[in-house]
Amino acid sequence: MSDTLLDISHIEVRYGDLVGVADVSLKVPDGGIVALLGSNGAGKTTTLNAVAGLVQATSGSIRWLGEEIRELPAFGVVGKGLTLSPEGWRLFVQQTVEQNLILGATPLVDKSRQRPLLERVYTIFPSLAERRRQQAGTLSGGERQMLAIGRALMSGPRLLMLDEPSLGLAPTIVETLYETLQALHREGLTLLLAEQSVELALDVADYAYVLQTGRTVLEGPAADLARDPTVQRIYLGLE
Ligand SMILES: Nc1ncnc2c1ncn2[C@@H]1O[C@H](COP(=O)(O)OP(=O)(O)O)[C@@H](O)[C@H]1O
Ligand SMILES: [Mg+2]
Repeated sequence: MSDTLLDISHIEVRYGDLVGVADVSLKVPDGGIVALLGSNGAGKTTTLNAVAGLVQATSGSIRWLGEEIRELPAFGVVGKGLTLSPEGWRLFVQQTVEQNLILGATPLVDKSRQRPLLERVYTIFPSLAERRRQQAGTLSGGERQMLAIGRALMSGPRLLMLDEPSLGLAPTIVETLYETLQALHREGLTLLLAEQSVELALDVADYAYVLQTGRTVLEGPAADLARDPTVQRIYLGLE
């Protein structure tokens, strides 16, 4: 495949004495859609948060285009061109939709990009445009997910990491959301997707990694994992 954008190699993340992630390795090629799978507590969020600089990996390496970024703070990571739409959205509920979006553009060095990026987000998510003056706290779950993704897009990323984008959303909303993500991918965005919704993730991804108790235990082309009944039963908890 093409160039590797993100290369995570044997990272460990601790929460005090607790090990959140023991040994995770994965690669995201430029232009790919990579799925990060695993049951609740497997270490998906911890892995994405370590990449995003929200928690610090205690060992291993995280390389972006060959450069070590493991010790960069969150702000520095976004500035490199990779951004996270976090689990649970982390929106400023008292602020308007537009204020939340503008906050996503904070790391942009070239401020003239803010306006076109905002217009692009409104084109991608027209319902956010309609609600631009509304407080984020008044939005539905689906709209909050759109806002979290929109805010992430406001930094003009090359790689968008999404933590459980389908969680808690109605199936029709999830379908629309995934169509949007695939459209963004066709326009050149690379995606790293943590999902408990395995079938959905394997359907859109081209490659997948499975985490179990903080370790990468399996990887392969998404179509192969989707087809293999043993993999499905043992690692993914599906019939
Ligand atoms: N803030 C935290 N403090 C202590 N332990 C945590 C914290 N966040 C996650 N963990 C632990 O780290 C492990 C991985 O969790 P997490 O990354 O949230 O998994 P996933 O996203 O796959 O559900 C779990 O054992 C979880 O209990
Ligand atoms: Mg999680």
